[in-house]
Amino acid sequence: MMASRVLLVGLTALLFSVVLADHSPLQDFCVADSGSQVLVNGLSCKDSNVVQANDFFFSGLHLLGNTSNPVGSRVTPVMVAQLPGLNTLGISMVRIDYAPWGINPPHTHPRATEILTILEGTLEVGFITSNPDNRLITKVLSKGDVFVFPVGLVHFQRNVGKVNAVAIGALSSQNPGVITIANTVFGSKPAIAADVLAKAFQVDSGVINKLQSKF
Ligand SMILES: *[C@@H]1O[C@H](CO)[C@@H](O)[C@H](O)[C@H]1NC(C)=O
Repeated sequence: MMASRVLLVGLTALLFSVVLADHSPLQDFCVADSGSQVLVNGLSCKDSNVVQANDFFFSGLHLLGNTSNPVGSRVTPVMVAQLPGLNTLGISMVRIDYAPWGINPPHTHPRATEILTILEGTLEVGFITSNPDNRLITKVLSKGDVFVFPVGLVHFQRNVGKVNAVAIGALSSQNPGVITIANTVFGSKPAIAADVLAKAFQVDSGVINKLQSKF
C-alpha cells in the first residue's frame, strides 16, 4: 500500500517535470534555424558548431520608429524572428515610439507578460481585468517609471505629453503574439457578420459597417 503510494507520488512528480520541461532550456542555446522545415513548438535548432555571435545580436533599437500612421505609434520588435538566438529562451524586447497624443491601441499578448519602462516623455498606461469586473487599472508614467501588464490582459498606452515619447518593453516569450482588439474584431478576413458584431456591441449594423471599412 505504502509502496504504491510512493510510486504514485513519484509518477506524478515525473509527469509534472515533463510537462514543465518546455519552459527550461535543455542545452546552452537553440538558435532558430530559419531553413528548417521541422515543425515543433518553437523553432528547431541550428547546428551549434556553426552558431555565430550575430545569431545572438540585433542592432537598431536606437532608431526612432516612424509614427506617421493613424494611431501615432510604432513598435520595433526584437523577437525570435529578428534575433534567432532568442529561440526557446522565453524572452523578447520591443521599442515603442509615440507621437504627441499617439496611442498604442488596446491589445493583448496571448503568451507573455510585459514590463515597460519609459525612456522619454509621459505615458498614460492601463490594463483591464478579465470578466466580470473589467476593472481599468491605469497610471500616468514618466521617465524612469516601470509598469507591468499581466499575461493575456488587454492593455494600451497613450502619450499625454507635448513631445515624442519612447518606451522599452520586455516580454516573457520569444514570440509573445499580439491581438489588437479593433483589428481582430473589425478587420478579420473574411469579416465577422455585421449582425453578430451589431448585437455584440449593441449598435446598428451601419456603425459596424463603418468600423469594418476602417480595418
Ligand atoms: C513614415 O511613414 C509614412 C507613412 O507610411 C511615409 O509616408 C514616410 O515616408 C515615412 N517616413 C520615413 C522617414 O520613413
